[in-house]
Amino acid sequence: MAKRKDHFYRKAKQEGFRSRAAYKLQEIQKRFKIFRKGDRVVDLGCAPGGWLQLIAAEVGLKGRMVGVDLQKTQALPFQNVALIQGDITRPEVQDRVREALGGAAHIVTSDLSPNLTGIAFQDHLRSCELVRIAHDVARGLLRPGGTFLAKVFQGEDLESVVQELKQDFGQIKRVVPGASRKASSEIYLLAKGFQGAGQ
Ligand SMILES: C[S@@+](CC[C@H](N)C(=O)[O-])C[C@H]1O[C@@H](n2cnc3c(N)ncnc32)[C@H](O)[C@@H]1O
Repeated sequence: MAKRKDHFYRKAKQEGFRSRAAYKLQEIQKRFKIFRKGDRVVDLGCAPGGWLQLIAAEVGLKGRMVGVDLQKTQALPFQNVALIQGDITRPEVQDRVREALGGAAHIVTSDLSPNLTGIAFQDHLRSCELVRIAHDVARGLLRPGGTFLAKVFQGEDLESVVQELKQDFGQIKRVVPGASRKASSEIYLLAKGFQGAGQ
């Protein structure tokens, strides 16, 4: 991740958040109230752990969180979080997530990012690929009525990703958080009302 020392980067340092990305999720939570006390949440692409810090405060001690990332996520000071290091595209990692969650998920979040090449079209396509994988994982984990939130870089394939989500969710919103970098093409797809069977 780029570490330009902008307003949100400095704010994260001051307030003890591990990532400036936490402010994007904070804004989404303020606007759409996606997390509730006691929720079970899976966070895909969780390192270094900024989103999990925010989610922990929202779901409280009765909630349950599972974070997964290719990178190691340093331990968090909460009893109710399991951290898994691994590649979420691999079925055995998906199985470990399911086991660690201990029940169907209320919410699956994905801030998954490919290693950026700087070639916008390529980065867009790889980000769409990650959303499709995250969608597939969410389909296997969510309880009926559940929520899926995923980052994607905008581009010509975005519409087909949205159409695919529409087959499983009652409502899809496109959200551009104020904390996203001005030059970034990222948006978040907020899919609510999962209509599948879940676990
Ligand atoms: C933008 S960062 C996430 C930041 C995080 N939301 C936070 O607030 O700390 C994106 C993460 O996606 C992870 N990632 C990318 N591809 C992955 C994969 N196939 N499996 C697991 N994690 C992956 C990267 O390692 C990276 O840590």
